[in-house]
Amino acid sequence: MNNKEKQEQLVEKRKTASLGGGEKRIEAQHEKGKLTARERINKLLDKDTFVEIDQFLTHRCTDFGMENKKVEGDGVVVGYGRVDGRLVYVYAQDFTVLGGSLGEAHARKITKVQDLAVKSGAPMIGMNDSGGARIQEGIDSLGGFGEIFFRNTISSGVIPQISMIMGPCAGGAVYSPGLTDWIFMVDKTSYMYITGPAVVKTVTNEDVSHDELGGAYPHSFTSGVNHFYCPDEDDAFVKVKTLLSFIPSNNLEDPPFVETEDDPERLCKALDEIVPDNPNQAYNIKDVITEIVDEGYFFEVHENYAPNMVVGFARMDGHSVGIIANQPTHMAGSIDWQSSMKSARFVRFCDGFNIPLITLVDVPGFLPGTSQEMGGIIKHGAKLVYAYCEATVPKLTVITRKAYGGAYIVMCSKHVKSDINFAWPSAEIAVMGAEGAVNIIQRRDVEAAEDPAAKKAELVGAYQDKFATPYIAANRGYIDDVIQPRETRKRLINALSALINKRESRPAKKHGNIPL
Ligand code: HXC
Repeated sequence: MNNKEKQEQLVEKRKTASLGGGEKRIEAQHEKGKLTARERINKLLDKDTFVEIDQFLTHRCTDFGMENKKVEGDGVVVGYGRVDGRLVYVYAQDFTVLGGSLGEAHARKITKVQDLAVKSGAPMIGMNDSGGARIQEGIDSLGGFGEIFFRNTISSGVIPQISMIMGPCAGGAVYSPGLTDWIFMVDKTSYMYITGPAVVKTVTNEDVSHDELGGAYPHSFTSGVNHFYCPDEDDAFVKVKTLLSFIPSNNLEDPPFVETEDDPERLCKALDEIVPDNPNQAYNIKDVITEIVDEGYFFEVHENYAPNMVVGFARMDGHSVGIIANQPTHMAGSIDWQSSMKSARFVRFCDGFNIPLITLVDVPGFLPGTSQEMGGIIKHGAKLVYAYCEATVPKLTVITRKAYGGAYIVMCSKHVKSDINFAWPSAEIAVMGAEGAVNIIQRRDVEAAEDPAAKKAELVGAYQDKFATPYIAANRGYIDDVIQPRETRKRLINALSALINKRESRPAKKHGNIPL
């Protein structure tokens, strides 16, 4: 072969490798409503920025006739490119090649980009569409998964890691996404489970479909494994890009700054009217969030799971912030074990990646009951305490209404080292609500009264006026200021600018022991 022929051979080889499992299988993939690995990468990355690595890598297996089933690329497309101009590393499993199954070579391709991503301080985005461990390669496949998990763990807190589940993700394979920061699942075409319906039937005699066992819906609404529920693949790409716009490329960088036309001094007059006079009446905390943040844009995380706590990203005068808020419209905003885990993980991500925290508090307490105690509210609630205590990014808190008991402390109070705490005049900062307090400490006075109902009303009113206010906390310095609701945006932005260079360190240690 002369040089010209060799160059033509390269073009030909690339063409063949780019087709993965071939046109018939690509067609089958499309018929399922799924894109191919390369189509997905091109949808995610800026035009013509993808650079592929290891396109010619093949497996070395000779068992089960595998020597005749070699496809260059071995069922995964890896490389790097740009999203909105910023470098990211990607891998996309190609279901058209041996069902996207993961053998030794396939795993080596993924670990190669994982290593490059962490060395370069760039986000790692994985697109999963695979039958799991390649059965023909046996233990080498398992070893490959282990190598990926190790890198997921070592990269954790150094670079953001994102998993897009766009097909099957079964068996031990689920632990790679499970170790990453963010999971995006596509409705109807993706599923994640430890064992599929057939194994479930054998072991537990349970009849369950793929979708019921591991679809985007149950993992978004019930298990909380999935962070972003995506109706289709296009939506998943939009959401990943949006997420990236809020977060830095690594733990040593600040999040991207985005110019805004929204006036940092803007008054939010609607907030003056938002809290009902009746403490048992709900209002939507998302209305407060969208009122105070830049251009009313709030990117909610885990929207469908534990809705009694709202978490997500927004910008204040162009700077990314993480918002954590009790939601009075769900369970009166009380904290259960599910919302504790959800918010603790969010706080830790923000802290790890230099994103200031804004906490909005309207919480009657932790949810009581055996289901909560047996669900482990103590250890899960402790996660949230731990997350707030260890966080060293700027921490700002606004108490809009109730801040009772342990939940007051946990929700980024001064005592867990919040930097600036505001309260609205409607704030009720107390050990518990008025009625509960009177029932415990003044029960005898009520019982002894001529008219117990009138006495109780009188005592509840007196407690409310004296203790259910922000002023006792302000007297003690537990609240830095009581502010008018309309000033919230302006005061938060002002406080953030005062904390922009905040540096706080904790004692050196190998690592803490977060209550798992
Ligand atoms: C090798 C596999 C494979 C696998 C699928 N294929 N999974 N090859 N190893 N794990 C191949 C099929 O043989 C088939 O090849 C092609 O991929 C497409 O698969 P189909 O079954 O035709 O597709 P579909 O009907 O869409 O079903 C997809 C599927 C099913 C649900 C994923 O293939 C399946 O159940 N696969 C096995 C899942 C599994 O149990 N994996 C191991 C998990 S254990 P041909 O040539 O016939 O078209 C594990 C341990 C990891 O992952 C531990 C890490 C610590």
